[in-house]
Amino acid sequence: MGFAILNGKMIDRSEAKVDVEDRGYQFGDGVYEVIRVYNGKMFTAAEHLERFGKSSDSIGISLPYRTEELSALLEELIEKNNLQLGIIYMQLTRGVSPRNHAFPIEKIAPALTAYTKEFARPDESMKKGVSTILTEDIRWLRCDIKSLNLLGNLLAKQKAAEAGCFEAIQHRGENVTEGSSSNIYIVKNGVVITHESNNLILKGITKDVILELCLENNIPVEERTFTLEELANADEVFLSSTTSEVMPIVGIGDKKVTEGHPGQVTKKLQKLFQLEIENQCGKLK
Ligand code: PDD
Repeated sequence: MGFAILNGKMIDRSEAKVDVEDRGYQFGDGVYEVIRVYNGKMFTAAEHLERFGKSSDSIGISLPYRTEELSALLEELIEKNNLQLGIIYMQLTRGVSPRNHAFPIEKIAPALTAYTKEFARPDESMKKGVSTILTEDIRWLRCDIKSLNLLGNLLAKQKAAEAGCFEAIQHRGENVTEGSSSNIYIVKNGVVITHESNNLILKGITKDVILELCLENNIPVEERTFTLEELANADEVFLSSTTSEVMPIVGIGDKKVTEGHPGQVTKKLQKLFQLEIENQCGKLK
């Protein structure tokens, strides 16, 4: 199982236990991050740590470490676990306190946990593309916070899983928001279109990298709301996330996208994204 971090200490993962009244466990009162590791190095670590700080600030939990300390701690964890290709999962909860919806009056220590997991790149799916379903977005109105409260996302993903699909594309009425654990893009006449980063979606770190790559490579981008009709008429559709990178979508419900094959712009972005990984973390096998 390897090592885990529990409140700043590196311990054997089997010894990392949480209290039944940890507010993260009981209420989902906390925030989290998933950081990709390639060649034993974190990809876009600074951006993930910044978002972690923003998420915790927005629900009034103060990060018990400075960014540099946290970064050093995570590097130590990767080394201890000898992780080459995988992810770090890290979460911060408000801490342990007798159950009460309101925040505890007395100051309690936030609880930080982190562990690593080996996770291969999804090579096969990236080459062939994945199928999706559509589902109404039933989540709350602060999807910009990377909160532990994921029930809406879980129900959407489960619906996709039961349909034998990789992801559920969520929409609020006519407007497409995001996947259950990914951002969604369409390509129309060479323009990459994706939901603006507001309270209705998570501002993906992968999304930011992709939009930057588009800018540097003269691929036009529109960050705006798009409709189910635009989705149905798109030339290409893809999704992005820390673990999925740039993932072609080749099916939505019963309908094939780009005749069931990844599109040209999607494939170009996959290549550019891989180069960016190699810039930061070294050559990939
Ligand atoms: N999910 N939107 C949602 C709802 C997500 O959960 C995620 C990531 C993203 C993409 O964000 P990023 O590019 O920063 O990974 C968008 C992570 C991977 C997870 O919960 O496992």
